Amino acid sequence: MVDVAVLISGGGTNLQALIDACAEDDFPANIKLVISNNPRAKGLERAKKAGISTKVINHRDYETREDFDDQIHEALNECGVKLICLAGFMRILDARFVNRWRNRMLNIHPSLLPSFKGLHTQERALEAGVRFTGCTVHFVNPELDDGPIITQAAIAINPDDTAETLATKVLEKEHIIYPQALKLVAEGRVRVVGNRVTIREADYANESIINPIPE
Ligand code: GAR
Repeated sequence: MVDVAVLISGGGTNLQALIDACAEDDFPANIKLVISNNPRAKGLERAKKAGISTKVINHRDYETREDFDDQIHEALNECGVKLICLAGFMRILDARFVNRWRNRMLNIHPSLLPSFKGLHTQERALEAGVRFTGCTVHFVNPELDDGPIITQAAIAINPDDTAETLATKVLEKEHIIYPQALKLVAEGRVRVVGNRVTIREADYANESIINPIPE
């Protein structure tokens, strides 16, 4: 069982998907701590309801990004987690922090990376006229929304789609692929070679999920 911390800033629907997955019998990860930089994040309530410890580390209380990141690092070390999941965590973490957690920190982003890093991804996908959008779970590199890709899910963009309808459809996919990616990493089946991730098939005969990409 791998202990995990989830970092959030807002609604926490991805956090909820991870909480629900971790509640399943043979799920290999356990959420030990939820940290939010935003004291009003709705995700904090979700964590409390699930009996998970929460901590607010408000970036406004720190003079520098490094001080804020150090505080997060300390909280993570104190509770002894082995993995971090960023789930709608809207602060940029500095390179020192990211390197300390290299290949042990996952992020979910609402685009098919490396396209549309940053904010307003669905608006920009519509403007660019791409035919597909989607979401990506990746290991975090010091660059924004960058790093080895673990899994992605794509959805077709229809002529009548708006940024809102796309965001809703993409979020549904996020809730599927984030628990899948965490499961693969927690089972030790994920290897990073350069910028590429390889996924080892399960050892056990009865394992059915060997393809992380949902249909
Ligand atoms: C999700 O769509 C997530 O992909 C996005 O924020 C939303 C959080 O929703 N993250 C990013 O844009 C990170 N670059 P949630 O709080 O309901 O999980």
